Amino acid sequence: MPTFNLKINDKIYTVEADMDTPLLWVLRDQLNLLGTKYGCGLGQCGACTIHVEGVATRSCLLQVSQASGMNITTIEGLSEKGDHPVQKAWIEHDVPQCGYCQAGQIMSAVSLLKNNPNPSDKDIDAAMNGNICRCGTYIRIKQAIKTASKL
Ligand code: FES
Ligand code: FES
Repeated sequence: MPTFNLKINDKIYTVEADMDTPLLWVLRDQLNLLGTKYGCGLGQCGACTIHVEGVATRSCLLQVSQASGMNITTIEGLSEKGDHPVQKAWIEHDVPQCGYCQAGQIMSAVSLLKNNPNPSDKDIDAAMNGNICRCGTYIRIKQAIKTASKL
């Protein structure tokens, strides 16, 4: 089986996997980085969102061979103590309900704010459109993104 060097949260991991193994499987099953969630496996729910070179990316659609050599950040790498401004805003607004979608929501929100530090409602809707929340926390997500934009 081929070997890949993955740079995740500023650490290098060497993994063995088939070329087309989704990065999501490697994160969860081999590296025990369980914050990134499996929802649909089809790029349609956003639960598996990570950053690749700072850009929000669905890890269920990214093959491990494509991820090799890229700078990857998962929710575990966003901050050491859960105190990234977006995480603080999430806490302030008590955003999560069941919590399952929230790592993906936060990773998408961080990516949005990086590119657009002062997003309008429309910008937020467009950027967060692919992140589904079955608990319907959308209003609090939007409020938290606005709060985070001021932090
Ligand atoms: S699990 Fe990747 S988008 Fe749903
Ligand atoms: S908080 Fe339950 S799915 Fe979003």
